[in-house]
Amino acid sequence: MSDFVRVCGLDELPSVGAALAEIDGRRVTMIRTDDGAVHAIDDTCTHANVSLAEGEVDGCHIECWLHGSRFDVRTGAPDSPPATVPVAVHTVKIEGDEVFVAFAEEN
Ligand code: FES
Repeated sequence: MSDFVRVCGLDELPSVGAALAEIDGRRVTMIRTDDGAVHAIDDTCTHANVSLAEGEVDGCHIECWLHGSRFDVRTGAPDSPPATVPVAVHTVKIEGDEVFVAFAEEN
């Protein structure tokens, strides 16, 4: 796992929803679910080259806006077609009001 990098303040994330972040040149979708948890996944849908940050957050899933695959934001696993490949999930740490992310693997 890489070192933690500060991404944003908690107040910069939607109360429930997704936002795009760029961390060390890598596009990451930051997600806050309705239970208040914050997650970080790679931004690019594994089915085609579109941004998951523009998708809809529903419970612990984000739905790709283009073809509707739903990814579990905790595991990255798609649970509906056409995507079959998981999206990378990164580690999130909250310190005070600050959000930090460490990549699952080196970029
Ligand atoms: S581009 Fe995301 S499901 Fe097709």
